[in-house]
Amino acid sequence: MSPSIAIRLEEELKDAGRRYQKGVKQLCADGISRVPNKYVWPVQERPVNDKLNSSKAKLVNLPVIDFAELQGPNRPEALKSLAKACEQYGFFQLVNHSIPSEVISSMVEVSKRFFELPYEERARYMSSNMFAPVRYGTSFNQNKDKVLCWRDFLKLTCHPLPDVLPHWPSSPTDMRELAVTYAKEAKHLFLKLTEAVLDSLAVRLMRDQIMSEFEDGSQLMVVNCYPQCPEPDLTLGMPPHSDYGFLTLLLQDQVQGLQIQHKDEWHTVQPIPDALIINVGDHLEIFSNGRYKSVLHRVTVNSTKSRISVASLHSLPSKCTVRPLPELIDDEVSPKQYMDTDFASFLAYISSCEPKKKNFLESRKLI
Ligand code: OGA
Ligand code: NI
Repeated sequence: MSPSIAIRLEEELKDAGRRYQKGVKQLCADGISRVPNKYVWPVQERPVNDKLNSSKAKLVNLPVIDFAELQGPNRPEALKSLAKACEQYGFFQLVNHSIPSEVISSMVEVSKRFFELPYEERARYMSSNMFAPVRYGTSFNQNKDKVLCWRDFLKLTCHPLPDVLPHWPSSPTDMRELAVTYAKEAKHLFLKLTEAVLDSLAVRLMRDQIMSEFEDGSQLMVVNCYPQCPEPDLTLGMPPHSDYGFLTLLLQDQVQGLQIQHKDEWHTVQPIPDALIINVGDHLEIFSNGRYKSVLHRVTVNSTKSRISVASLHSLPSKCTVRPLPELIDDEVSPKQYMDTDFASFLAYISSCEPKKKNFLESRKLI
């Protein structure tokens, strides 16, 4: 190859790289009819050719937990269903969750409007600093991913609100107000769910102390945008991962895309109108000494509809140590399964490797 051709190719590659860093929404706005190679996943990891998954993924009816039942006279029964869902699926759909439907629809709608803003406006929030209170980006781990994901995101740190709020996007002009309202509702619901989780694990001695830690706990909202994709079978919106926190509350529009791993197969979650998806994160698996499962999940994309989701990830304050609860450890029957961990070691871990698969949790296992 002549030097001038080599230089030109290199320039083209750099140019493509710069283009991809702008995200999928912008790529689509520029007009494409095929998925660029950088987004094409290895055959075995694609949504339909996955070795776990020789044909299209099955639909899964996740366990449904009725929040009103949890708060009423049938609480003991509802707690049993909650425990079963966390043990067997690591996921459930929550109905009658008490967040007003206009709060939910406004959050979805303002998120859509955020991603419709001109690229330059969104790009103001791009940052490679993991600690930035607001971070706009693309793919999963933008600077490390060898293959890119068909996803743009906005991450909003929600705690402590008075400190972080001035950094949140100032446009759309109603974004802060609507997102704060949703974040507060999500936090309130999370605390109620955590009480239920503690009760379902029969935690007694430290219940009040743990609850007061969670009241001051961390909250991160991740607004995900998965634009429609010309060749959805070649790529993924998010790779298989588990969530690092205690519980995640996931709000999604009514477009399918979330898949969970269950009995060694991928299953597509069928959205239920107005329900929230709740899943166990790594911290709860550790805290419950392995009784509740932080399950791998991923996101597929489709050719007809763009999809929006808002994940609210909650845990203890980031300075706290997460450890199996002593009350749940018994040297004979259920020995300690995980070593103690903290947020700093999680961040060190994901900065040092590709955060794919259940690596972090695996790295904490003692047995
Ligand atoms: C996440 C996540 C799923 C979805 O944000 O961690 O798994 O459907 N999202 O967007
Ligand atoms: Ni997730």
